Amino acid sequence: MKEHEIKVGVIGWGTVGSGVVKILVNQDQYMMKPGSFSIKLGKIADLDITTPRDTAVDPSLLTTRVSEIIEDREIDIVVETIGGLNPATDFIRSALKAGKHVVTANKAVLALYSKELFKIAKENKVRIGFEASVGGCIPIIRSLREGLVSNRIQAIYGIVNGTSNYILSEMTDKGMDFSEALKEAQERGYAEADPSSDIEGIDAANKIAILTSLAYESDVKLDSVFVEGVTRVTQRDIQYASELGYRIKLLAIAKLVDNNKLQVRVHPTMLPERSMLASVEGVFNAIYVVGNATGSTMFYGRGAGQMPAASAVLSDIVDISKTIAANANSQLLPSPVLDNTEYSIKPVAEIETRYYIRVQVLDSPGVLAQISGILGDNSISISSVIQKERREGKTVPIVMMTHEAVEKNMQNALKEIDALSVVTPKSMLIRVETMDGEEDNLAIV
Ligand code: HSE
Repeated sequence: MKEHEIKVGVIGWGTVGSGVVKILVNQDQYMMKPGSFSIKLGKIADLDITTPRDTAVDPSLLTTRVSEIIEDREIDIVVETIGGLNPATDFIRSALKAGKHVVTANKAVLALYSKELFKIAKENKVRIGFEASVGGCIPIIRSLREGLVSNRIQAIYGIVNGTSNYILSEMTDKGMDFSEALKEAQERGYAEADPSSDIEGIDAANKIAILTSLAYESDVKLDSVFVEGVTRVTQRDIQYASELGYRIKLLAIAKLVDNNKLQVRVHPTMLPERSMLASVEGVFNAIYVVGNATGSTMFYGRGAGQMPAASAVLSDIVDISKTIAANANSQLLPSPVLDNTEYSIKPVAEIETRYYIRVQVLDSPGVLAQISGILGDNSISISSVIQKERREGKTVPIVMMTHEAVEKNMQNALKEIDALSVVTPKSMLIRVETMDGEEDNLAIV
C-alpha cells in the first residue's frame, strides 16, 4: 500500500512552534504512528527566521510569508502557534478556506470564534484540532469529546493556568510574596508574553469557555465567564486559609445548576486541603470532571511549557493524519457544532456558595458586632471567625468563613462593611468550594 506523505506547515516558530518542529524533525525515534502514513515538516513561517532555534531546519523550509504556507498545495495541515487574536484568527480562517486542516493552541481565538471556525471547517471538509488550547499536554478536549461523550456533565473544576498555580504554590510553600513568585514564573517561561492574561484570570477564562462549549455543545464565549484573577491574594490570605484547613487555587468552574443553567466562573477559590485539586502544585494543571454516569474523574499533567504543549499539538496532527490516510474526504471526528440552546448562563450575582472574608478593622469595642450585624441583615450566617491579638498599629484583621450565601447578598454586605468608619477598605473575599455532594443523584451504580 502506498504510504501517504502528510506535510505540515508551522506558522509561529516561538516556544510551542519550536517544540512541534523538534518532535516533527526527530519523530523517527519517538513518535508512534501506523505504517500507512508519514508526517513531514513542510514549511515554517515566522517574522524571525534568522535566530537559531534548538532544532536545525533546512533553510529552504523557512519563510517570513504566511501565504507561502496557506497557498502551498502540498501542505495538508497548518499548525498555528503564534497565539493572540490577531492576525492568528485570520490565518486560521484563510487556512481552513484554502482546504487545510488546522491545529492550534490558541485558546483566545477559540474562546471567541470557535463556532464560526468550526462551521468554516465543516464547509471546507477539514478539521480543526485544538487539544493544546486547554491543559497543555492533558488530553482533556479528546476526553470530553470521546471518553466522556455519553455523560451529562454536571461540573468541571479546572486548575488550568500554570502561571497562577505556580505563583500560588510558591506563595504557599515558600512564603513568597506575589510579585516575587510572578517574576520566577516569567523567568521559567510559563507566563504568556503579557502576564496580565494569566494573573487576571483571562487565560483560564478562555480555557473554561472552550471546555464548557464542548461539554454542553453550546456557544459559550469569553464574555459569559465571570473572571477574577489572583492579583489580590496576599500571603496573609494563604496563611489564614491554611489555618482553616484550606488551600487557595485559581479555579475555573463550570456547573450545571437548576437543570438547564450554567455557572461559568474563574476566581481564586479556597479548597479543602484534603481535596485532590488542592494538592496540584506548581505549573501542573488538573481538570476534575463530574459526569452523570462516570461520577468524578480527574485529569492531571503539565499545563504549560514547550514540550507538553507540543505533545498535544502532535496528538492532533497524528489524529488528523489518520483521517487523511483513511480517506481524504472523511472526517472521523468532525468539528463540534455548538448549536445547543438548551442552556442559559446563570449570573454570578445569583450563585450560592460559601465565603471567606478578611476585613481590616480598628481594634475597639463593638466592631465585631457591627460586622456580624451587617452579615446577619444580609441573610449571611457565619460559620467561624478568627481574630488575632494586635501586634502593631491600631488595626487587626478579622477573618470569617460563612455558610452558603447568595453572592449578591455577600457583595452588598461587603459594601456596607467597607463603608464603616472602623474598617480599612478594601476587604478581601474568596469563594469556597467544598465539592461535597457532587456525586449525589448521579446514575452511577
Ligand atoms: N500561560 C499559560 C499558563 C500556558 O500559565 O497556563 C499556556 O496555556
